[in-house]
Amino acid sequence: MKLGVNIDHVATLRQARYAGVPTAAVPEPSVPEAARAAMTGGADSITLHVREDRRHMQDADAHAVRREIPLPLNLEMGATPSMLDFARALHPDFVCLVPERRQEVTTEGGLDVASRAAELEKLVASLTSSGCRVSMFIDPDIVQVESSAAIGAPMVELHTGRFADTAGAERTAELRRLVCAAQRAHELGLEVHAGHGIRVSALPLLAQVPHLSELNIGHTLIARAMFIGLAAAVREMRAAVDRAFPPA
Ligand code: PXP
Repeated sequence: MKLGVNIDHVATLRQARYAGVPTAAVPEPSVPEAARAAMTGGADSITLHVREDRRHMQDADAHAVRREIPLPLNLEMGATPSMLDFARALHPDFVCLVPERRQEVTTEGGLDVASRAAELEKLVASLTSSGCRVSMFIDPDIVQVESSAAIGAPMVELHTGRFADTAGAERTAELRRLVCAAQRAHELGLEVHAGHGIRVSALPLLAQVPHLSELNIGHTLIARAMFIGLAAAVREMRAAVDRAFPPA
């Protein structure tokens, strides 16, 4: 099981103090330093979401991580022409297409691939021809899985937010949706990832979802890092992931 570490919150903290401040001082915390710490802790890839409103990651952060960190880079981005230009200049290894709304605190739902199929098909083709492997961040919904395969995306990332934030029967139902979506994605030849709201405590249940090959985790790692440091937080998560999904 691969572990992708999302370090957006490192930029959120930096922006809280330094947004709009001319870079006379060294703005901290440093995004590449965070990526390096995640790598030390056992991350398999680094994920950054460069949002249209640039509320946390800035263009320069993404380029610095690309230049300085020898791990695969996964760029999360909205499906827009300007972000396509940005991705082409950055050359990330992976692009995860996400829905974006300015008012949201974090990515709230999955991308509606079914209703934007023609537009997204072109975007996936452009990104693929520029050397990126593309995943679609979707709700665990069969229609969205089938639409993702139909437009030529090689990977999907199943949104685990609802699974993470519910309990009891609702959580069981959401787990069932994740299992069915993962099964269908695998049948269609898609690589299956999962992300959003995943914490250590959710891993044993999440391990019931078949065919997962990568988890993308951010918030809980940065929160834990405040007390034990980022490399240690990633190391702890790496060990928990390996316990829940024992290496073959
Ligand atoms: N995957 C995607 C597509 C996301 O948008 C996010 C949040 O930025 C994550 C994974 C990580 O979620 P969390 O920060 O809740 O672990």
